[in-house]
Amino acid sequence: MADAQDSTELLSAHVREEIDHWVAKFPEGKQRSAVIAALHAVQHENQGYLTPELMDSVAAYLGLEPIQVYEIATFYSMFETRPCGRHHVSVCTNISCMLRGADDLVAHVEGKLGIRTGESTPDGRIFLKREEECLAACVGAPMMMVDHVYYENLTPDRVDEILDALE
Ligand code: FES
Repeated sequence: MADAQDSTELLSAHVREEIDHWVAKFPEGKQRSAVIAALHAVQHENQGYLTPELMDSVAAYLGLEPIQVYEIATFYSMFETRPCGRHHVSVCTNISCMLRGADDLVAHVEGKLGIRTGESTPDGRIFLKREEECLAACVGAPMMMVDHVYYENLTPDRVDEILDALE
């Protein structure tokens, strides 16, 4: 949907290309189906979170009402609508992971980073998201997701290694 308007000027050329790519996958008039992909691209370019202005731009670019974008951005746990650290870390604490020590892992991560779940490190490097429900990787419990990549069979030492590698 290359009908660029002033209100879409916040979207980079790369984001527009990405949105166009996804819109083309759906039938004419079904561009609403591209909102998730559009928000992923926008969030990635904006240091890990969405602003009202960016969500409005996505809505304008896709020819949707802003509420149609807000409702998706606020429903899915992979989107953030407030400033936060650029690397998103989520430790699964659902039943399988809990039985395999997830609570201790959360305490370990909080102690290591000096923040509580739901907070970001002061240097903006890491956002420790609220604990996730089952991420469908129970066979590798305990596990965590970092920027949409799964890490399984975790130990405190392995967690340290993963977190220390984040720039
Ligand atoms: S309970 Fe953690 S992945 Fe299923």
